[in-house]
Amino acid sequence: MKNKILVCGADGQVGQKLCSYLNHFGQVYAGSKSKKTSHYGLPHITLDFAKTDAEISQIIQELDPQYIVNAAAFTQVDLAEDQEKEATRINTIVPSLLAKASPSLKGFIHFSTDYVYNPKHNNPISEEEEKNPCNIYGKTKLLGDEKLLTDFNNVIILRTSWVYGQQGKNFVNNMIDYGKKNTRLTVANDQWGAPTYARDLGLVVFAILSRAMDDDKYFLTKKGVYNCCNEGHTNWYELALKIFDLAKIYKIKLKLNEIIPVASSDSPTRALRPKNSRLNISKLNNVLKIEMPSWETSLHQFFDTLR
Ligand SMILES: NC(=O)c1ccc[n+]([C@@H]2O[C@H](COP(=O)([O-])OP(=O)(O)OC[C@H]3O[C@@H](n4cnc5c(N)ncnc54)[C@H](OP(=O)(O)O)[C@@H]3O)[C@@H](O)[C@H]2O)c1
Repeated sequence: MKNKILVCGADGQVGQKLCSYLNHFGQVYAGSKSKKTSHYGLPHITLDFAKTDAEISQIIQELDPQYIVNAAAFTQVDLAEDQEKEATRINTIVPSLLAKASPSLKGFIHFSTDYVYNPKHNNPISEEEEKNPCNIYGKTKLLGDEKLLTDFNNVIILRTSWVYGQQGKNFVNNMIDYGKKNTRLTVANDQWGAPTYARDLGLVVFAILSRAMDDDKYFLTKKGVYNCCNEGHTNWYELALKIFDLAKIYKIKLKLNEIIPVASSDSPTRALRPKNSRLNISKLNNVLKIEMPSWETSLHQFFDTLR
């Protein structure tokens, strides 16, 4: 019998990539609040995390998937400061509920964030590093990770950073749009991390599932948290420079002619952001044997798709 794989958050940046990659392993179901994108023709499951536990459990029990990949999250970092209850529901409570409600579950892959760490030093952060989220979003994601790890044995959590893809609101798309309309831009140069192409996260999930197909105990033996972002690091200002260099190479018409580095404190946001989001991905490399492309290579390939 074909495996059933449920992708949650199928309309999101990562969810859309998952919908396009995972059919190789069985029948993929695209789970989302409403059907906003094509989901590559996959069957759609209406799944709103704001519904009651009983309603969500019933949907999952009826589908009875062997694998769940959860890319759904309350990702509006500033809004989460004012909507902690809603963010807690989506980021902390429902991921575990999905796993609990699946009678035949063999593996659960969940996405988490660099915002759970917020360390004081400047080194790349490893998974064991002290957790100290500086905003509500990070706090609710951390609690969600901890609940999954406490309640289940077959969970792999991928902590990523600075995600961008063709669709959705993200720094890369925002910069291109802004540069088309404006001549001058200020960007923070004191927050460090790795831009991560949603495609590469989709390929990591592909690699994990392909190994799990050959090894029934894969999720059990590899259970845990893995930092998972593109190789290397930069800051927002340097990333903006790179985006506009590539935009010129790819002949995107820009008005922008001045980019000024500033301190993040010059443009405060509702939620605090960590200065250091650099993730150490050696556990991903050494334990899961998965390598990530450099952020520059992936950004270049992203621009290639815009032609
Ligand atoms: N984006 C980043 O920079 C970043 C950085 C670090 C970690 N992450 C993590 O990576 C994962 C994927 O992020 P992403 O960038 O793909 O996020 P995204 O584009 O914002 O997608 C998140 C998806 O979650 C869905 N969602 C929100 N509320 C929901 C609800 N009540 N019920 C069901 N679905 C709901 C959204 O659906 P609607 O579209 O219908 O609202 C959206 O499609 C998340 O776990 C996120 O925390 C992201």
